[in-house]
Amino acid sequence: MRKDFGCKTWILPQPVLIIGTFDKDGNPNAMNAAWGGMYDYDKVVIALSKHKTTENLKVSKAFSLAFATKSTVEAADYIGIVSQNKEKDKIKKAGLTFTKSNKVNAPLFDQFPLALECEVDSFNEDEGVLIGKIINASVDEKYIKDGKVDTEALEIIAFDPINAKYRLVGKEVADAFKVGFKLK
Ligand SMILES: Cc1cc2nc3c(=O)[nH]c(=O)nc-3n(C[C@H](O)[C@H](O)[C@H](O)COP(=O)(O)O)c2cc1C
Repeated sequence: MRKDFGCKTWILPQPVLIIGTFDKDGNPNAMNAAWGGMYDYDKVVIALSKHKTTENLKVSKAFSLAFATKSTVEAADYIGIVSQNKEKDKIKKAGLTFTKSNKVNAPLFDQFPLALECEVDSFNEDEGVLIGKIINASVDEKYIKDGKVDTEALEIIAFDPINAKYRLVGKEVADAFKVGFKLK
């Protein structure tokens, strides 16, 4: 037997994306966005309502997209519940520091080890759809092992929309595009 729940946005897991932007004066901001993902082989898509971040995107035309981790969960949640429109010290209060990306006009927050650096490809404010073109992906060197990104060591977290929880992205279970060959 299955139990029906009707229309629910139950895509599990959702990423916990941290959108980093600069305002017109070069001040950094960050917000949490779980309604996003890959759009094309070189693009991302994020569903956005109106925020300080969306004002910034219109002028900066670029953003960083980092991934929240177990150790940054409080900061990640904080920047998702507090707007810089109301709290000017949002970044400081979140305990975030940054360097400016040398690829796009956006901040790269030191506390989030994995990030995509994106240019705004299109932003339809009425429909709330942001599409970003990925210019670069970068990872803190300490998470590189034998030339590969150690994704388990990153301790990336995911959003569970069914129970409104953050969950750790877990251990490897098999090789993708490979394990299924056994059944071919
Ligand atoms: C878990 C979580 C996921 C969120 N996902 C989104 C999202 O996908 N799109 C969106 O527009 N807002 C999302 N938000 C809300 C924004 O992060 C929030 O409104 C934030 O305060 C905006 O900051 P800003 O005004 O400083 O840009 C999310 C918040 C949380 C806590």
